[in-house]
Amino acid sequence: MSKYTNEINRRRTFAIISHPDAGKTTLTEKFLLYGGAINLAGSVKGKATARHAVSDWMEIEKERGISVTSSVLQFEYDGYCINILDTPGHQDFSEDTYRTLMAADSAVMVIDASKGVEAQTRKLFKVCGMRGIPIFTFINKLDRDANDTFDLLDDIEKELGIATCPVNWPIGSGKEFQGVYDREKHCVISYSDTEKGTKEGVATEIPIEDEVQLRKLIGDAAADKLLSEIELLDGASAEFDLAAVRAGKLTPVCFGSALTNFGVEIFLKHFLNMTTPPLPRLSDIGLIDPAEKEFSAFVFKIQANMNKAHRDRIAFMRICSGKFDASMEVRHVQGNKVMRLSQPQQIMADERKILSEAYAGDIIGVFDPGIFSIGDTLCMPKEKFSYEGIPTFAPEHFARVRQMDTMKRKQFVKGIEQIAQEGAIQIFQEMTAGLEEVIVGVVGVLQFDVLKYRLENEYNVEIRLENLPYEHIRWIENKEEVNVEKLIGTSDMKKVKDMKGNPLLLFVNSWSIGMTLERNKGLVLAEFSRN
Ligand code: G4P
Repeated sequence: MSKYTNEINRRRTFAIISHPDAGKTTLTEKFLLYGGAINLAGSVKGKATARHAVSDWMEIEKERGISVTSSVLQFEYDGYCINILDTPGHQDFSEDTYRTLMAADSAVMVIDASKGVEAQTRKLFKVCGMRGIPIFTFINKLDRDANDTFDLLDDIEKELGIATCPVNWPIGSGKEFQGVYDREKHCVISYSDTEKGTKEGVATEIPIEDEVQLRKLIGDAAADKLLSEIELLDGASAEFDLAAVRAGKLTPVCFGSALTNFGVEIFLKHFLNMTTPPLPRLSDIGLIDPAEKEFSAFVFKIQANMNKAHRDRIAFMRICSGKFDASMEVRHVQGNKVMRLSQPQQIMADERKILSEAYAGDIIGVFDPGIFSIGDTLCMPKEKFSYEGIPTFAPEHFARVRQMDTMKRKQFVKGIEQIAQEGAIQIFQEMTAGLEEVIVGVVGVLQFDVLKYRLENEYNVEIRLENLPYEHIRWIENKEEVNVEKLIGTSDMKKVKDMKGNPLLLFVNSWSIGMTLERNKGLVLAEFSRN
């Protein structure tokens, strides 16, 4: 047992994901409330503004009401130290969500009970499934008319390919919402609207066997429906299996109403019970145990100009083992340098707190003079290992970027390079051109808007984007053996190079890829760049 064990064991680090408006912010606020991290007065008054103040940074997020960047919040509850990683609520930022999930040990998925898994966020939820981490579902807004409960569960199973196991079961919804049936305790917990209270109200609890009391509490019709649903549920739903939950194959589902503060604490308690502290992580020298090794971390996010008051670049890292203390020297493995991390801070929404120590499971932000890349490892000076990398998603949309004012070339190059280093966009050039003519590739089209907005607001550069018809990108794997100039592709194929000078091809459809391979025997194409 190492001296860090206690601190690490009480850590729980999870990402929270949802379609915009499902109630992620409200649920997060209620969690913080239990931890005493914010006071109720602050969160209730001027809800709309308070909401943005807590977890959104960028103007564009406010305008669109979506969260583009992720923020980190930490709070204490019942002896646990909990880190919540917020994720963007739009499918166009699914790559960012994936990176954040890499830094989390589990995910909380919030779903609006009247909508189910929403069309726009299928991709986001799939990304959540791809990571294979435990997923806990909170079906929210039961105080409003909801979809049929079985349909909601079906939806999750079909969309996410994950089995569901209800922890509790709602009794009615909207005006008829009466509470939930707790499947573990075999009792009914009555609904009480405690929006204005600081904690969940004292609800009435009635054992399900006490049918007389039950009928008195919720009425005959609701009792009949509940009893038949329970029978159906016990016969049809997956058995609760903690190992399957931890493997991300079964999601426990809780029902509640974040706004009226019903079911939030029950969910939090179940969640803490079922999740694990930070687990060993894979590196190129094998699994690294959080408590056994000294400090190590990896960078999962880089963000420049997050806040107008701090025009700097922050690298976010997840500590994977040991303890971090601000005075220690660490090795940046990819840069092969030993250094002190500059201005280590805990970033709470738009507030920054310089920190002196942190443990495995925690997220810290450090000042980045432009040396870190996403996926980089930091460890103790005597060590030299790397954590498994974070894959880059292949861009699916391309546009040519033109600068409106050619006098601002320097700012343009700086801006576009920085935003590309953050991993928000990928940039390519014509084979012979310099950076004055840039082709940008993104995973979701909203990223184009973010690029335009950020170049204007942070770098004072106006650009025009001209959409290009390409949808597929392929790197030339055997570039040493191929004369790129002489490659014969289809007429709609485009030859470009990435920032490292690697040649690659853009195609409008997969037919052209096949055709090009046929016309150039020996050509090997790859969906990802290996260098
Ligand atoms: P998000 O972060 O997932 O985008 O959602 P957020 O918490 O901001 O919630 C979106 C809206 O839904 C908010 O409405 C919020 O008050 C409401 N909401 C959240 N949880 C519940 C719930 O359990 N029940 C009900 N009835 N509403 C809930 P708003 O911004 O205040 O107003 P508006 O957006 O509806 O105008």
